[in-house]
Amino acid sequence: MRNATPIYSEPPVGQIVIAGNWKMYKTQAEALEFLKGFLGQLSETPEDREVVLCVPFTALSILSKNLHGGRIKIGAQNIHWETEGAYTGEISGAMLTELGCRYVVVGHSERRQYFGETDETVNKRLKAAQAAGLTPILCVGETKEQRDRNETEAVIAGQITADLAGIDQQNLVIAYEPIWAIGTGDTCEAAEANRVIGLIRSQLSNPNVSIQYGGSVKPANVDEIMAQPEIDGALVGGASLTPDSFARIVNFQ
Ligand code: PGA
Repeated sequence: MRNATPIYSEPPVGQIVIAGNWKMYKTQAEALEFLKGFLGQLSETPEDREVVLCVPFTALSILSKNLHGGRIKIGAQNIHWETEGAYTGEISGAMLTELGCRYVVVGHSERRQYFGETDETVNKRLKAAQAAGLTPILCVGETKEQRDRNETEAVIAGQITADLAGIDQQNLVIAYEPIWAIGTGDTCEAAEANRVIGLIRSQLSNPNVSIQYGGSVKPANVDEIMAQPEIDGALVGGASLTPDSFARIVNFQ
């Protein structure tokens, strides 16, 4: 068994964190093409904003090599809870940190919906991420049916309690992503996202954890979302795939 060396030095507590989630998009060539168009648009981006690209495993290495220690951090989209072993198709924390990875998305609703992720496995993956020195971005959110049944608060509270059991809140980002707003163009009202994020914050032992909103964030709505007092950042899917739109989002007003 190998022990991962933690590389994380400045936990992003209280920081604005804008993260792109590329999901299963972009080959290495396409990732480089994105970078060419994106890097030049960050010269005016305020220093206190953390800019993260959470990309397919296959794009981590090439992005890492081409960022030259610049201001963009890279992240993965999953991590296994064991350090190594017979887990076909899985990836360990040390494998990610070796490639320069700093963040990892854990518990995205697509993994919960399509790949059997549960609060229990989410909790184990969060622990593994922190043990490896990565900052996990924990995703929580309710379905449309749960919202319609007025269960939003209970669902979110349940996820936060179960997912964060035994987790260090000094090295953590949370993303509130209502499932009905993901990839649908149907953004949650900014005031409502702010309200739910406030509820999440009231449940934390460290109220300074950065909490993002995610779900159809785009250039046209990012300014209003980021103007909300409880919202510390955004997790962006579709609109992070093109350099101009993601640049406009990280450079929100
Ligand atoms: P979207 O995805 O921005 O395309 O809605 C967000 C996410 O799944 O993280």
